[in-house]
Amino acid sequence: MGTAAALSPPRCGRAASVGPVVAAAVLVLAQLCAAFNLDTEGRVVYSGPRGSYFGYSVEFFGNSSSVSLLIGAPKANTSQPNVTEGGAVFLCPGSQANCSMIDFDKQGDRYFYINGVNTQVEFKSHQWLGATVRSHGNNILACAPRYYWRTEHDLPFSDITGTCYLSVDGLKTFVEYAPCRTERHGPVGQGYCQGGFSADFTKDGRVVLGGPGSFYWQGQLISATTEEIVKAYYPSYFLLSVAGQIQTRQVQGSYDDSYLGYSVAGGEFSGDDDEDFVTGVPKGLMLYGAVSILNGRDLTSLVNLTGEQVCAHLDGVLFL
Ligand SMILES: *[C@@H]1O[C@H](CO)[C@@H](O)[C@H](O)[C@H]1NC(C)=O
Ligand SMILES: *[C@@H]1O[C@H](CO)[C@@H](O)[C@H](O)[C@H]1NC(C)=O
Ligand SMILES: *[C@@H]1O[C@H](CO)[C@@H](O)[C@H](O)[C@H]1NC(C)=O
Ligand SMILES: *[C@@H]1O[C@H](CO)[C@@H](O)[C@H](O)[C@H]1NC(C)=O
Ligand SMILES: *[C@@H]1O[C@H](CO)[C@@H](O)[C@H](O)[C@H]1NC(C)=O
Repeated sequence: MGTAAALSPPRCGRAASVGPVVAAAVLVLAQLCAAFNLDTEGRVVYSGPRGSYFGYSVEFFGNSSSVSLLIGAPKANTSQPNVTEGGAVFLCPGSQANCSMIDFDKQGDRYFYINGVNTQVEFKSHQWLGATVRSHGNNILACAPRYYWRTEHDLPFSDITGTCYLSVDGLKTFVEYAPCRTERHGPVGQGYCQGGFSADFTKDGRVVLGGPGSFYWQGQLISATTEEIVKAYYPSYFLLSVAGQIQTRQVQGSYDDSYLGYSVAGGEFSGDDDEDFVTGVPKGLMLYGAVSILNGRDLTSLVNLTGEQVCAHLDGVLFL
């Protein structure tokens, strides 16, 4: 932080009065460049259900000898009973244009008896499953950041906690991972978390989720290993604790509304053997926006780079 502040970075990325220069550059480039497509003969075009936002997210799945595509369609209709536009992820083989929907979750909304009344406690319609999809080896993580549930309080609350599904053995076993569905409900806690708005796997396969709505939109990151997530899973339980899960905590009110966790990726930044995390904080640091680097071991904050600092230090820090 000290050295970052001491240097005076150039004001790059903030085009103030360069309009004519940019226009001229574009003209020159337009004359120099001609577009071309790679392998137009062998191309494969994938398409999904109309209106499903097919292609909202895309990810590779497989190994060097057989690669498929995972394509998110967060408004797709599924076969889940009484769920409208729950969203889906399609698996598309690399060489053929036919895709099949992955059944991360076949169930409709769960109901619980609350004070003797059979009550709908979760809401999967319009949950945007497939808005985020990531893979690592045989594992696939797909998230529904707009999933919400009623909470277990006598008075009903709608908590848009988000939820994710993890497949760990090449599409044979599926578990749910909803780490923001906790007793800390409402905007003050994790009730507006939208867990899985962003997600990634580290190189060694650890899951990290961004939830930009926790703690009055301070946002948070939550991380656990796939083994721990699978071990903790118990169908029909809403509140599960995953051993070894780490997460960022609530901080001072001055960090409210900064959306930490809007984007997330793994990388090594601290010089030890553990992979760290880098996350976008688009409304952080007085709306300049920031990129925050967190220690992969315990999610403590290492450094926040502001919009201006990013210009000067992105290469120096992020791509070590
Ligand atoms: C999903 O199904 C509903 C009800 O049948 C329909 O109104 C809606 O258009 C469908 N959406 C998509 C994306 O297919
Ligand atoms: C690559 O993936 C395919 C399909 O899942 C599998 O049959 C094959 O054994 C894998 N190859 C290697 C080298 O892991
Ligand atoms: C679907 O909704 C209808 C009407 O609300 C209800 O009668 C039916 O039991 C529901 N089905 C499931 C599987 O929840
Ligand atoms: C895709 O199409 C090929 C050839 O038409 C067929 O053999 C294969 O089973 C299809 N795959 C799926 C998932 O439908
Ligand atoms: C970076 O910002 C977060 C809030 O987004 C804050 O909790 C943390 O203390 C800051 N880190 C540093 C090193 O200043």
